[in-house]
Amino acid sequence: MDLYEHQARELFEEHGILVPRAEVTDSPKEARGIARRLGGRAVVKAQVKTGGRGKAGGVKLAADPAAAELTARQILGMDIKGHTVRKVMLAQPVDIEDEFYVSYVLDRAAGHFLAIASAEGGMDIEEVAASRPDAVARIPVDPAEGVTSAKAAEIAEAAGLPPQTVDVLVRLWEVLTREDALLVEVNPLVRTAQGRILALDGKVTLDDNARFRQERWGEKDAPHDDPLEAAAAARGLNYVKLDGEVGVIGNGAGLVMSTLDVVAGCGARPANFLDIGGGASARIMADGLSVVLSDPAVKSVLVNVFGGITACDAVAEGIVQALESVRLTKPLVVRLDGNNAVRGRAVLDDRAHPLVHQATTMDGAARRAARLATAD
Ligand SMILES: Nc1ncnc2c1ncn2[C@@H]1O[C@H](COP(=O)(O)OP(=O)(O)OP(=O)(O)O)[C@@H](O)[C@H]1O
Ligand SMILES: [Mg+2]
Repeated sequence: MDLYEHQARELFEEHGILVPRAEVTDSPKEARGIARRLGGRAVVKAQVKTGGRGKAGGVKLAADPAAAELTARQILGMDIKGHTVRKVMLAQPVDIEDEFYVSYVLDRAAGHFLAIASAEGGMDIEEVAASRPDAVARIPVDPAEGVTSAKAAEIAEAAGLPPQTVDVLVRLWEVLTREDALLVEVNPLVRTAQGRILALDGKVTLDDNARFRQERWGEKDAPHDDPLEAAAAARGLNYVKLDGEVGVIGNGAGLVMSTLDVVAGCGARPANFLDIGGGASARIMADGLSVVLSDPAVKSVLVNVFGGITACDAVAEGIVQALESVRLTKPLVVRLDGNNAVRGRAVLDDRAHPLVHQATTMDGAARRAARLATAD
């Protein structure tokens, strides 16, 4: 789970990293009061779980409390990369001398953490990393050893950061390990005109496997803006809304992703990603079908199941039972293969629903679903 900037800021503060004074609100009126408490001027910042807020107009300096109210009104409700801004944070403006970039991220493939740091932080860090990779230091961190002062000094030196950042690098490692994070990023970490080092923006991704230890951040991630995603999440489904017209249901994330590719390869566009997982019950199938069918953009639905541990006849029974509770209004193409596929196909043949079509291969099924979706 990703944290909001204001939550990351709270964690940094708890671990002794300096941050600007700040408060969060969802009301422009309150924003005015907060700016007054901060001394008049304030940086008004959209709280959304996506990057590039500044470039999207979601980070603005307000010169006085009245301007803070106006700016908060502009930013609240704004859409930034599909995320609606529901809260803003007002932070005390800091006199920036230098902007740095620092992060720790888990490198799963290599089996260790990676410290990434640059003396050229700020909003253009992606561009710096792409055009001048030498300006970004990447130092492996052994998880058993962690970031000691000596390791932090090595990271600072490699990135060209001033020695005052060493203490912050050690504390940031504490945030990562003590808070069960997979990623912590500070961009920018700044040096002020007075020589202090402050974290002006933070991103923290927590390890969901440790959620039971992190209850303070709540059970669920940000509410879904998309009503279909919200309906799917309420039923515990792994669903992502996409822009196309072929509804896709499959078992296993890898299979569903390749199904999306194959649908696209047939000249249609997938309407969603939906992984019903292994052992898909009739209930899950019914829930999945009802969510996918309630998408008005969907013209046909492709169910692609490869039976491994899951037996295809159980999936077919699930589809038949789902057809009792969900009124099928659009053609459904089913491809069953693997464990008990023959029996599964027989179950669907017996049901003989006029809108249910069967295909024996994934390509054949995708072609059929694409044709049904694009016909008329
Ligand atoms: N409290 C502050 N005082 C002065 N300048 C600030 C403050 N907070 C942010 N800024 C300036 O605004 C820039 C953008 O802010 P920030 O890093 O929070 O947003 P962003 O990088 O666009 O967001 P994201 O990291 O989500 O892409 C910073 O690089 C910094 O120059
Ligand atoms: Mg930033």
